[in-house]
Amino acid sequence: MNLISIFDLSQAEIEAIIEKAKELKKERKEGVRARNDLEGKTLAMIFEKPSTRTRVSFEVAMHELGGNVTSLNWNELQLGRGERIEETAKVFSAYVDAVMIRAFRHETVEKFARHASISVINGLTDFEHPCQTLADLMTIKEYKSQLAGVKVAWLGDGNNVCNSLIGGAAITGMDVSVACPAGYEPDERIVEKAREMGCEILITGTAEKAAADADVIYTDVWVSMGDENESEKRKTDLKDYQINEDLVRIAKEDVIVMHCMPVHIGEEITEGVMNSSKSVIFEQAENRLHAQKALLLKLLKHQQ
Ligand code: CP
Ligand code: NVA
Repeated sequence: MNLISIFDLSQAEIEAIIEKAKELKKERKEGVRARNDLEGKTLAMIFEKPSTRTRVSFEVAMHELGGNVTSLNWNELQLGRGERIEETAKVFSAYVDAVMIRAFRHETVEKFARHASISVINGLTDFEHPCQTLADLMTIKEYKSQLAGVKVAWLGDGNNVCNSLIGGAAITGMDVSVACPAGYEPDERIVEKAREMGCEILITGTAEKAAADADVIYTDVWVSMGDENESEKRKTDLKDYQINEDLVRIAKEDVIVMHCMPVHIGEEITEGVMNSSKSVIFEQAENRLHAQKALLLKLLKHQQ
């Protein structure tokens, strides 16, 4: 089984991953760090772009589950010298049990999966970031006790993280409002699919409209990896979509503020909000570890 899109998982599978992740989190807080569930299993990770959270949380997850991990940058592989994905996928399939790939293009991960005979995990592409969504859903469930009916407001660029979050919302029954300037909307294929699944999605140009009555306010960087050549334009276009103290006041009293990180203080979020009692950003980052452990157990534990 692969995790390339959040839509690869059903509601029951997501709920089971969250429950397992919460159990693993509790156990770890009680001091248990060494398990042997994935003894003899190896995860390879291929990074075409930088990463802090994804890389470290997957590495620690594999170690703590008793497995092995190898992390590789694209350019230190023959991929960087033109070896094709087709052959690379077959070779990796002979050595390891799963591959996590962070790539510029979503098609790269899809192609790798087509030619591999092992599990392939999307560690972020230009289109989706499903591992982030698993941790996000876990975090929302911890704070709001349930997912169905929770109102999530997305502010800023309707990017890869937003696409997967919309998918996650559609699967689990949350409502979404997205505030963004024209041209920065989430992918229309994702929005259409989510709406077909019954998800209420409001897309508006007004930040206040999206934030009104929100249970969760979420943002991400204005300049994603790969968008650097539009950096100045993006910062100008997105400046009215910052999560700041005024915007947080519009939401529900018990709103939680989320961000997948890395954070660009003073751009998409103010330092005051990031460090306020409403922010769950660091716990959200921590939950990457627990959610990915649960995912790895699902993908690898019963594999022959
Ligand atoms: N949120 C996230 O994926 O962070 P990294 O880019 O540091 O992995
Ligand atoms: N949207 C950001 C997320 C980083 C985790 C990017 O793609 O760079």
